[in-house]
Amino acid sequence: MTEAKTEFEPKIVAFLCNWCAYAGADLAGVSRIQYPPTVRIIRVMCSGRVDPVFILEAFKDGADGVLVAGCHLPSDCHYLTGNFKAQRRVLLLKEVLKQFGIEPERLRLEWVSASEGDRFATVIKDMTNEIKKLGPNSLRTEGGN
Ligand code: FES
Repeated sequence: MTEAKTEFEPKIVAFLCNWCAYAGADLAGVSRIQYPPTVRIIRVMCSGRVDPVFILEAFKDGADGVLVAGCHLPSDCHYLTGNFKAQRRVLLLKEVLKQFGIEPERLRLEWVSASEGDRFATVIKDMTNEIKKLGPNSLRTEGGN
């Protein structure tokens, strides 16, 4: 009996800030804008609230990609500087990921406003395609998830 080879479907964990990116994702949903069902959304109050440990845990638990999305730089963050904090953290974390053998492209930071449902969908499509090219997260394969 031959087994049908199924195409790799990435799992993307998305930390979305409540005020902008989450609202943008919501708009994509209510506007019925199509995007791949590869994303699991976690709502946070601000992108600056995303602790680096959350991201590392997501990769350890089998995520193929992690998206952090918040309000546009420089001045849209509802907590003033949370998006700057997120930007600094993500840049540093990309370096840390390399040390763990995880391609830094698997971690992405994007700015999506509440009115950018189409942009949210584009980000997910783009990220899904990019991660498909990279293949599964090596930690996921080793852990058997
Ligand atoms: Fe959206 Fe800070 S409230 S990034």
